Amino acid sequence: MSDLMGTSITWLGHATVLVQTAAGTTILIDPFIENNPKFPKGFDLPEKLDLILATHGHYDHIADVVPVAQKTGASVVAMYELAGYFGTKGIKNTIPMGYGGSYTHKDVTLSMTEARHSSGIQDGDTFIYGGEPAGFVLTIADGPVLYHAGDTSAFSDMQLIRDLYAPKFGMLPIGGNFTMDPRGAALATKFLGLDVVLPLHWGTMPQLTGTPEELEKHIGNTGVQVLKLAPGQTAR
Ligand code: NI
Ligand code: MN
Repeated sequence: MSDLMGTSITWLGHATVLVQTAAGTTILIDPFIENNPKFPKGFDLPEKLDLILATHGHYDHIADVVPVAQKTGASVVAMYELAGYFGTKGIKNTIPMGYGGSYTHKDVTLSMTEARHSSGIQDGDTFIYGGEPAGFVLTIADGPVLYHAGDTSAFSDMQLIRDLYAPKFGMLPIGGNFTMDPRGAALATKFLGLDVVLPLHWGTMPQLTGTPEELEKHIGNTGVQVLKLAPGQTAR
């Protein structure tokens, strides 16, 4: 497995991931906790978080952004419109971004990437425009380069993400129906030039049928590792 150089990555079920760097920076991506059937019971988030990253406005990615930000003092990073939405919900420290932009916090440089998906925010019986969906590259000083794809299909411009940022550890959705399936994720792995893939967004609900075993089958003997974590488990 690629050397995480002191960074730890904990999968919390669905697309929710906690990243802690060797220097102590803590980042929570797409917090879906209270109503996430795969969130590990009894898992305690750190009392303080530096940043919460929100990839897009769907419920299963932003459900717990506001309460967790308020509890932990985290700043919330998201596409301009989605960050503005969190602002209307009482979050004072938002960091709006756009595709191709980067923002550095302590030892972590975040870069916002494209994702092929949608991003409406459900509010009662209407949808609020949430901007475009995104992914994030996390370039950690003296550490690894990580990529969280958000919800997306595979797309050939993932090769630009490889050329610009060279992530080696990828967190990719594999469940299908709303995102790429294992076959698509295998192609994405190739476009991105990854060494390790942590499969996300599978097994949470009945229509997310893709499995890590199928991803392994499609990746074949390329030397890429599929990291099969259970929710609550940590890669170091
Ligand atoms: Ni989504
Ligand atoms: Mn989703």
